[in-house]
Amino acid sequence: MKELSLHLLDLVENSIRAKATHIILSIAENTTQDLLEIVVEDDGEGMDEWQLERVWDPFFSGQNKKVGMGIPLFAQVVEQCQGKVTISSQKGRGTRLRATMQRSHIDCPPLGNIPETLTLLVITHPEIRWEFAHLKDGQGWFFKSDEFFAQWETKNVYSLYTPLREWFQNRENNLGEGNHHENREYRRFEESEGRG
Ligand SMILES: Nc1ncnc2c1ncn2[C@@H]1O[C@H](COP(=O)(O)OP(=O)(O)OP(=O)(O)O)[C@@H](O)[C@H]1O
Ligand SMILES: [Mg+2]
Repeated sequence: MKELSLHLLDLVENSIRAKATHIILSIAENTTQDLLEIVVEDDGEGMDEWQLERVWDPFFSGQNKKVGMGIPLFAQVVEQCQGKVTISSQKGRGTRLRATMQRSHIDCPPLGNIPETLTLLVITHPEIRWEFAHLKDGQGWFFKSDEFFAQWETKNVYSLYTPLREWFQNRENNLGEGNHHENREYRRFEESEGRG
């Protein structure tokens, strides 16, 4: 079973290929309602209606190839967990993908190594403005790459690999015990309208 973090990499790869300069990735868990929500939002080149209809088709790819499996495979996993994926997009403006699923479902894959995954994204694409959030029952953490880079003035982005992974690891270890400041920030983030 493929971990959700690997699907996240697939989804984010689509955003990067669409020349996004700003990518927001949020994970929200609700244990009372037994829900897991994943949102990936970008300001890339977007899709028109014709393209948007075809993203669900594994035998269509906007790239020069015969198959495009990323979204169909992810949608299949989500649907197996009693969930659904919705995508909204606007040509020239960006794309927003939202998945909600039953968190405890037996077919729901584990999230996987979130600190490692997010660190790799930031380190391999420092030119992109990243925003990440992970909430559990309304408590959690919020990350902005521009603020992180401002704190660590260095030309060598690879030297940030360890501090960054530790930052995410600490936040993940304390998930669900976040403070109010971070919550406030997250609400602001949630309220920001999807550009899709
Ligand atoms: N965030 C996005 N912005 C713009 N276009 C997108 C985005 N996500 C998907 N698409 C379009 O939808 C197509 C299908 O995406 P999907 O991830 O299913 O397959 P793929 O990326 O083409 O191939 P694979 O994921 O198997 O490498 C993409 O080729 C691209 O044209
Ligand atoms: Mg893809």
